Amino acid sequence: MGIQFKEVNFSYTGVQKGFYEAIKDISLTIQDKDELITLVGQTGSGKSTLAQHMNALVFPTSGSVEIFGKLVTAKRNRKIKYNEIRQKVGLVFQFPEYQLFEETVEKDIMFGPLNFHVPEIEAKELAKKALRMVGLSESYLNRNPFNLSGGEKKRVSIAGILALDPQILVLDEPTSGLDPRGKRQLMNLFKSIQMETGKTIIVITHDMDLVYEYATRVLVLNAGCLVFDGTPDSLFKKPSLSEFHLDYPATIRVLREINERFHTQIDIYQKTVSDATIAIKRGFKS
Ligand SMILES: Nc1ncnc2c1ncn2[C@@H]1O[C@H](COP(=O)(O)OP(=O)(O)OP(=O)(O)O)[C@@H](O)[C@H]1O
Ligand SMILES: [Mg+2]
Repeated sequence: MGIQFKEVNFSYTGVQKGFYEAIKDISLTIQDKDELITLVGQTGSGKSTLAQHMNALVFPTSGSVEIFGKLVTAKRNRKIKYNEIRQKVGLVFQFPEYQLFEETVEKDIMFGPLNFHVPEIEAKELAKKALRMVGLSESYLNRNPFNLSGGEKKRVSIAGILALDPQILVLDEPTSGLDPRGKRQLMNLFKSIQMETGKTIIVITHDMDLVYEYATRVLVLNAGCLVFDGTPDSLFKKPSLSEFHLDYPATIRVLREINERFHTQIDIYQKTVSDATIAIKRGFKS
């Protein structure tokens, strides 16, 4: 099951003259369990557009996306319940303003479960639980989502999708605009959800440190094309990432510079600051 892209192209129409090809000839399989995928690529490379294909929010211009056995193509099929697809694959938008619309946080988070016929009392419980998961207290339940800070809005929009309990969770830049601690808290939440429930989680990000530390697989888009699909280790061991318009994680950059300046031979492939520190200590002892 999961999601299979087959030769998917997508063009935005009505942009100036003609159309704009945002993703090109994408073939890709995403398992419905046990993956923590990061999707990266420079601004405008097509990440959000690709993500919106994963739950049939947009339809390919050509090619097909099979989502949990349902074939999504350019032509709408009356027999397919697209809403059911959106419960199986939950998408958190890049901009929370696109997602939040109710007058209280509680109503906003309850909206999805109620829409899928969860009884009101249960939906209320789900809202509380989801809010707790994203690190906000119950005092937020009666707040107006539009009066929250950027980071709080982001957390509420994530809670709304968590409450739906999708099998695959797609998060479009969930950590952008959060403080550094908040970023790690959220990534730790996604990792623990992934490990405890076996769900597949896809995170779009520009943060290579998070990619290196957390992802089991990384997809790279460049100008609408899928140019890399593999482990973060194999991506960051490439001698250059300039063709992908990406940079290396901070640990690799710093350790590489230390080796150059001090003629040490420290193993530069360290995923965390604490691993890097230990490697530096060893490198200077030997
Ligand atoms: N609604 C739209 N109408 C026309 N063109 C669009 C629309 N949305 C996106 N595009 C164009 O499609 C391309 C891909 O956009 P997309 O939002 O998928 O990129 P992205 O990789 O998510 O970028 P970012 O990192 O800035 O979020 C961009 O060149 C963008 O200008
Ligand atoms: Mg985007």
